[in-house]
Amino acid sequence: MSLALYPGTFDPITLGHLDVLERALTLFDRVEVTVARNVSKKTLFSLEERVQLIEESIVGIEGSGRVAVASFDGLLVEYARASGAVALVRGLRQVSDFDYEFRMALANRRLAPEVQTIFLMSSEAHTFLTASIVREVHRFGGDTSSFVPEPVQRALEGKREKGKG
Ligand code: PNS
Repeated sequence: MSLALYPGTFDPITLGHLDVLERALTLFDRVEVTVARNVSKKTLFSLEERVQLIEESIVGIEGSGRVAVASFDGLLVEYARASGAVALVRGLRQVSDFDYEFRMALANRRLAPEVQTIFLMSSEAHTFLTASIVREVHRFGGDTSSFVPEPVQRALEGKREKGKG
């Protein structure tokens, strides 16, 4: 049974992430969405919220029974080795993603040559979409409903309501 990790910050998960996840499920028996705990950036959603929003968002996608959601701390490749994953899946939207992704993939390969990095393109409808765009649109009061799954949209609206309180 092949296991791939789909690692990221997922702050929050977007429709682009879900698209990549669905594509990864056509290649691997199991895919674990692996949420980074220790990120240098301050996140809008806590680790627990990000994990929960992913769990809620994958309900109903094709192959959701083969998806797990977990979090990790430290080096990704160490976590991949410990979980027996054969691959790391990363989404590529545009050429501008490539520089960072290329460096990370090569560093990960140096550290763990047996773990392959696989890049998957999301649908062209999502090529502009990043979690940081979602956060920015949300921060300035814009409508994020076409960018994120419903549970995330509800959570964003909840944060706005709280902010008002
Ligand atoms: O969604 P992101 O923020 O682009 O995800 C980046 C992430 C979390 C996958 C990456 O920063 C990561 O793997 N962090 C853990 C530390 C690590 O192993 N870094 C890679 C060595 S270069």
